[in-house]
Amino acid sequence: MHVPQWIERKRDGGELTPLEITALIDRFTAGHVPDYQMAALAMAIYFRGMTPAETAALTAAMRDSGSVFRWPAGTPPKVDKHSTGGIGDKVSLILAPLLACEGFWVPMVSGRGLGITGGTLDKLESIPGFDVNVPQAAGLRQLERIGVFMAGQTADFCPADRKLYALRDVTGTVPSQALIIASIMSKKLAESLDRLVLDVKFGTGAFMKTRAEAEALGAGLAAAGNGNGVTTALRLSPMDEPLGRTVGNALEVGEAIDALQGRGPADLVDLTLDLCATVSDRPIEAFARHLDSGAAWARFVALVEAQGGNATALERWDEIHRVPIVEIVPASRAGRLARIDAGTIGRASVRLGAGRRLATDAVDFAVGFSEICKVGDAVERGAPLLKIHARAPDALAAALPAIESAIEIE
Ligand code: URA
Repeated sequence: MHVPQWIERKRDGGELTPLEITALIDRFTAGHVPDYQMAALAMAIYFRGMTPAETAALTAAMRDSGSVFRWPAGTPPKVDKHSTGGIGDKVSLILAPLLACEGFWVPMVSGRGLGITGGTLDKLESIPGFDVNVPQAAGLRQLERIGVFMAGQTADFCPADRKLYALRDVTGTVPSQALIIASIMSKKLAESLDRLVLDVKFGTGAFMKTRAEAEALGAGLAAAGNGNGVTTALRLSPMDEPLGRTVGNALEVGEAIDALQGRGPADLVDLTLDLCATVSDRPIEAFARHLDSGAAWARFVALVEAQGGNATALERWDEIHRVPIVEIVPASRAGRLARIDAGTIGRASVRLGAGRRLATDAVDFAVGFSEICKVGDAVERGAPLLKIHARAPDALAAALPAIESAIEIE
């Protein structure tokens, strides 16, 4: 094995064989390929890309770098959703219990927020006591009882991705399509799913800024899923305004609670139901009934309790996470809301402390935005466009001008 030759071949536009890729990832995971070589290869991949065969081999090698979930024969279909990340995207909190209500198993492994997009684990951890560490045996018992768990990556789950992502993060090689596909899909494939739906976002608040970029990434992600035995469906969703009416971890959990109790905002509920129907091949109405009947809410409460969370806290959610400053941003004139820019709102939420600049940063669960108006809403002069939840006056002062620049009334 001669890693420098592989780096040179990739640098010069050549192709690596599946065997070479597997050997490389095995040895990188075991600590026998130094970071400087792997970083150089990542940069070569960034510039040269990978063929579909190379991407498939990288995805499979990263999936197999740790333990892969094994499900007993005869158990219900295993399903999941992956979103490429957006602003105010709390869909997973609603979708996972909904799918479980229909008899599916949802072994959901999620990530933390990084940059402007939030992460499901941070939202869940805003629930007092909620434990996202679910070992595989405990996960199986939980699926048998309630059909759903929502966990973080354990040390033994796709360790090659963990190591490689950390390197990419500091070497300018995150935005490589092949590396993104292998990173995302290795983790979803390690869940040993039957079906997966991908929600690939595009717009100012998304990783992919244009629909064309999202289509290309989505096609690559879907090919990696379908090529590895997981029926993978694709949906592209615009992300130019926040999803729903809240942004910020605990505020989003509050909105998910509303949705689970049948009181969610239309855009959030519609997207969630559509993703449920797409991944399950069941009608949207079947899932809508679980929101209206209280079944989805009961399943979410069972999930919270099963993972050590304090479910009674959910009933007085507004009291659990409070900040000293809640400031209304009023409309400067009457008209129709033409723009409320998701990217700007996302960046402002990071400034407030709701997100991370570095993977090691702590997040403030309580800060963010609520009662966000939607594009197309008619507004009166002075009417609230959104509320800012801030921990300190300087954080509010930093967020305010950005928020004002994000909004356009016509
Ligand atoms: N999310 C991941 O898990 N990996 C990437 O490379 C990008 C987004």
